[in-house]
Amino acid sequence: MVGTDSLPRMSDRPRLSVIGTGYLGATHAVCMAELGFEVLGVDVLEDKVALLQSGQVPFFEPGLPELLRKSLDSGRLRFTTSYEQAGEFGDVHFLCVGTPQKKGEMAADLTYVDAAFTSLVPHLRDGALVVGKSTVPAGTAERLSALLQETATARDVELAWNPEFLREGFAVEDTLRPDRLVFGVQSASAEFGLRAAYAPVIGTPTPVVVTDLATAQLVKVAANAFLATKISFINAMAEVCEATGGDVTLLSKALSYDSRIGGRFLNAGLGFGGGCLPKDIRAFMARAGELGVDQALSFLKEVDAINLRRRARMVDLAREELEGSFGGMRVAVLGAAFKPNSDDIRDSPALEVATAIQKQGAAVCVYDPAAMANARIAYPELGYRNSALSAAQGADLVLHLTEWDEFRAMEPAALSAVVAAKRIVDGRNVLDPAQWRAAGWTYRALGRP
Ligand code: UDX
Repeated sequence: MVGTDSLPRMSDRPRLSVIGTGYLGATHAVCMAELGFEVLGVDVLEDKVALLQSGQVPFFEPGLPELLRKSLDSGRLRFTTSYEQAGEFGDVHFLCVGTPQKKGEMAADLTYVDAAFTSLVPHLRDGALVVGKSTVPAGTAERLSALLQETATARDVELAWNPEFLREGFAVEDTLRPDRLVFGVQSASAEFGLRAAYAPVIGTPTPVVVTDLATAQLVKVAANAFLATKISFINAMAEVCEATGGDVTLLSKALSYDSRIGGRFLNAGLGFGGGCLPKDIRAFMARAGELGVDQALSFLKEVDAINLRRRARMVDLAREELEGSFGGMRVAVLGAAFKPNSDDIRDSPALEVATAIQKQGAAVCVYDPAAMANARIAYPELGYRNSALSAAQGADLVLHLTEWDEFRAMEPAALSAVVAAKRIVDGRNVLDPAQWRAAGWTYRALGRP
């Protein structure tokens, strides 16, 4: 802790800037305005700022467009490309820019964090608090904190770390009613600033865990590593079930009643994808190597490998269903997003499987309720159709790869009428095998007979 008594006290209702208006930042800015704060969203991309300022959310997130328009109408939320305005406006500045995986490496790319930070610092006002929310490798906050003390011209500025845990598809709920808040701080006044910035949320019943910077940064990657491990654990059990004739869905159900284990994140299937879990565990391993504790995280290599093997297994299972060859076959792929209620296709298991099958000679038709536009841009070589039924038209095999409600609710009879052959592989273990088999379908799934 550094001495704090001389620091100016943050007002009870600080003005907030949110730097980076991607999925995390846009949601944070909108929700903080909804909670009653004056908020300025900042992004270097003019088009994105213009879109948000006009009330449009550039990605799919249930509930966010309505709240964005409400916050803009209230006058509490504005967007800008100007760091100067942000510095002048904000008491607390949330850094919410992305930390993608470096190309060709496991490590996280901190270009955006560094750029946002160095652009903001010269404009800070006396007493401002800079709060990192981006997921970063251990040591980043300490480095930025030292940089802040060296380069800021304003007095009594400080850095804190406050990791985010939001899930896509539930981002609004997770921001307005987080299950916990972690405040990584170096002084009582930084803690005071964060408590003021989260006052409407704290204790309802959200608990606050106050830590040092090192722990706060770790909480996020540790949480994601745990979740990834839980998913890969049950997917490893699925591999064993495939060898023994067991049913991983029943195994998972039986395990879930042990309250020490619990049933969440225990659904076996095609595994995890998205913009967080895969790249966060890789960046965590890369950083552990630099810190000389790579052995502590070597199990994550296996977690990643189990996860990727599920995708390969799905392709093999599909080929088996087509008697050993994709050549000349039509395959319908239901789902493109990495998970339902999202249009995010980053590291999407569904699209990786679709592409592998297409490369092996099948004609693949994809349908997704929200991710079609993104998928078309990233994978122009795949075929796309505007409904599940039209994707399945003439199909020799249907693959269910992202568990949207729309697919869960599908009637086998409706698909029966359009496919060339009644074969389905359920990559998410959510369809009812009995129902599909009763309708004359060959039903296969990962980890079950
Ligand atoms: C995750 C974390 O949950 C969140 O706390 C963090 O802030 C960001 O990363 P998100 O990427 O939105 O959130 O997705 P999540 O709901 O965690 O799902 C991740 C992946 O795991 C998805 O591909 C999902 O399909 C898969 N999954 C999830 C399973 O395969 N099985 C499960 O039982 C649960």
